[in-house]
Amino acid sequence: MFAYNVHHVGIAVNDLDEAIASHTGLYGGEVLYRELIESQGVTEVMIPLGGTSIQLLQPTTEDTPVGRFLAKRGEGLHHIAYAVADIEAALAHLVAEGVELIDVKPRRGGGGHKIAFVHPRAFAGTLIELIEVVE
Ligand code: CO
Repeated sequence: MFAYNVHHVGIAVNDLDEAIASHTGLYGGEVLYRELIESQGVTEVMIPLGGTSIQLLQPTTEDTPVGRFLAKRGEGLHHIAYAVADIEAALAHLVAEGVELIDVKPRRGGGGHKIAFVHPRAFAGTLIELIEVVE
């Protein structure tokens, strides 16, 4: 069995600056980094909090995955990211279990880490991101 650790919780927002001010004002934390991920049409902000992090996501346009999410469901919980030591092995394990993947192969996420998304249909309607931290 693989060891999964909660790496971050992703929250979709309409206005990053407002969300950063609101989150840090209410719950603390400081921005570790802010990065535009052009391939995914999103700007992400990582705020370490306790043993995990909160990731705020603002789409660059409406015609992006997070843009469509906001249009359909509004602001809120978008995904939970599980850190794994070997993302290829974890994906192979899920494929063997018959799980529907959004990303069959890992791609580059914020911070240069390797990420892949598992379809929400696989578990409780919840989008799960696998992340292999690249130091
Ligand atoms: Co994420």
